[in-house]
Amino acid sequence: MVSEPINLIRGWPSTSLLPTQHLSRAAQAALADPTVAFPGMLYGPDEGYAPLRDTLGDWLTAFYQPEQPIVRERITITGGASQNLGCLLQVFTDPVYTKDVIFAAPAYMLAFRIFEDNAFSGKMRAVPEDDDGLDTVRLRKVLEESEKCCPRHEATTYKPSRPYAKYYRHVIYCVPTFSNPSSRTMPLHRRIELVKLAREFDALIVSDDVYDFLQWPADSSKPSSLTKALFPRLVDIDRFLDGGSDRAGADGFGNATSSGSFSKICGPGIRVGWAEGSAKFAHGVSQAGTSCSGGAPSQLTSTYMDILVKEGTLSRHIFETLQPAYAARHKTLVSAIEDYLWPLGVTLPQSNRRVMGGYFLWMTLPDTVKAVDFAKRCQEEAQVIVAPGNIFEVPGDNSVKFEHSIRLTFSWIDEDIMVEAVKRIRAVLESCLNGERPVEACKQAETVQNPY
Ligand SMILES: Cc1ncc(COP(=O)(O)O)c(C=O)c1O
Repeated sequence: MVSEPINLIRGWPSTSLLPTQHLSRAAQAALADPTVAFPGMLYGPDEGYAPLRDTLGDWLTAFYQPEQPIVRERITITGGASQNLGCLLQVFTDPVYTKDVIFAAPAYMLAFRIFEDNAFSGKMRAVPEDDDGLDTVRLRKVLEESEKCCPRHEATTYKPSRPYAKYYRHVIYCVPTFSNPSSRTMPLHRRIELVKLAREFDALIVSDDVYDFLQWPADSSKPSSLTKALFPRLVDIDRFLDGGSDRAGADGFGNATSSGSFSKICGPGIRVGWAEGSAKFAHGVSQAGTSCSGGAPSQLTSTYMDILVKEGTLSRHIFETLQPAYAARHKTLVSAIEDYLWPLGVTLPQSNRRVMGGYFLWMTLPDTVKAVDFAKRCQEEAQVIVAPGNIFEVPGDNSVKFEHSIRLTFSWIDEDIMVEAVKRIRAVLESCLNGERPVEACKQAETVQNPY
């Protein structure tokens, strides 16, 4: 009889890896210094705590190594990637003029409601990933069809025109590096194609770049500290390709924004992130009504993060603690899958990559096993909670399904129970493959609780 439940669905950092002591010291230092504590305790400027914008510019420049340094004007402080998505949809989309949002599918499921809250229900489209991430050939078709239905010149806007913003015709949402949930990474050529398409169709690419720092070599005999980004971000490509957002005929807002966050590399409770884009775009994000009324989000915790980033503590934590720890968890989970699940026909995409990263593994089950039933059985019979592929399908678009996939998270649970988790999953899979419990019986079972 299986006892302790094992949660492989929760995309949170491990509590054993939270830099609590560093944060405690930074908080005390910030609060003890009136030049930091007073601005930290008051309403922040719309764009966020200026020292952190500078510090982030230097820190991101060192990691992404763009052709030119990232300056503070390109950055607005946010309350994390989720809050930022809400703000930028409020500022840069219109419920009438903006035709749709197109997701790289499978997609980060908790983003769906943020789009629905911003009038995108019924306007959400899925474009599948191939091995290189979002399939740009399919994306072009979707964009062309969308434009055919309602040509740009015929469209009006519902919201008023505002000097600090523009309304994009389409939104493209993706996680191009170590994606949630597929863990796929888009290579450079695909990123360039995507930016070109966004420019052609007046689309805003919202790129959640929240896992970029969590990377390690697939070959564990190599040193596991990787201090430079694998690829330029979409926002970097948009900045420099063919003259960037200031090229002739462009309006200066650009077509890509990077949403960064300290949630996965420090702790989500800190609620500090950043939006990067052209200076015009970054200023626009800061003009969301909530920021103008309440000041920049997360002003006080921004002062703590400024200290941790500036003094190098966060970099050391990422490169010396998080990368090796997550690399070890990832390796343990993959090895267990190879030992116990591969022989039963389970596959992993992109398992041949040089560099791995993020929080997740995306697994494909044998054709005869439906993920939604399988997840129920894992929870009921083995007390292992896994995420079935259907929750990452784009609501309202049935063209891209993930009926035989599941997502496993390796960030949350400790390494020592991973093999146990996989053994339990194997027992359920064997039983499914042997037809020991008909699918009808599973349908009676309660739905999987939502333990994200
Ligand atoms: C792709 C992606 N974007 C955003 C978030 C949430 O980020 P934040 O905590 O900064 O709001 C997550 C968390 O799971 C995520 O996976």
